[in-house]
Amino acid sequence: PLIKELFGFTDLEKQLARMLNLQKVIVVPGDSDRSDWVKKEMGKAGARLLKQLAHPRQVVAVAGGTTVASVAQMMTATAGLRETTFVPARGGLGETVELEANYIASLMAQKSGGKYRLMHVPDQLSDEAYHTLIREPHIQEMLEILRSARIVVHGVGDAQTMAKRRKSSPDLLEKLKEKGAVGEAFGYYFNAEGEIVHRGHSIGLSLEDLQSVETIIAVAGGSSKAKAVAAVGPVARPDILITDEAAARTILLDL
Ligand code: F6P
Repeated sequence: PLIKELFGFTDLEKQLARMLNLQKVIVVPGDSDRSDWVKKEMGKAGARLLKQLAHPRQVVAVAGGTTVASVAQMMTATAGLRETTFVPARGGLGETVELEANYIASLMAQKSGGKYRLMHVPDQLSDEAYHTLIREPHIQEMLEILRSARIVVHGVGDAQTMAKRRKSSPDLLEKLKEKGAVGEAFGYYFNAEGEIVHRGHSIGLSLEDLQSVETIIAVAGGSSKAKAVAAVGPVARPDILITDEAAARTILLDL
């Protein structure tokens, strides 16, 4: 029983799936806020899942961030993924290059032996530039590919942490506080009820597009993300959550 408690987390997983109304939850031991190997374990679980779910000629759309990056790092050459095309779920969100969805999509392709397509979109778009860019044939073609995604893998962040990481203005940081933003996913900031309180101007999969995706996988852990993970359901509608023990216990016991 001790081994199972240490490595299986069956109970935690079931309770969390029930509470958050998810198809499946995978919990890895530890707290990724404190140790890096926990994020690597989440990455391993994500890589394993992608292998299991592989389907011929599918499109997999991925978001940015360190956790999805660790899924990419843990992927290995897989025959079933050779015909998979990895694409970024959204264009620039103000991340450094190693954490950008584009880079992560290319890394997944490189590690698994699959293919990739990139979408080149700058971060800070004015209304005018946004509306011009969205009509570009390259962008239109990419959006079409994105909308055919069978699987989406995305991260979830704490709202203030993400706004700061993207060097957002003090005004935005204040606005997010006022509106009670607890989390962020896909460039959408949301409150504890899972209501969107702010969205950036980036191009890519919209939340409506997610409805036609077969499997949405959220990967996020650490007790600092507990509130964000607990509220992401109504926003991104994940089917499967890969998280860690610290986030799972905080959500179940402290929120
Ligand atoms: O910026 C991309 C993104 O996926 C965000 O939507 C999310 O909040 C964040 O990265 C998660 O990053 P990390 O896994 O590094 O905490």
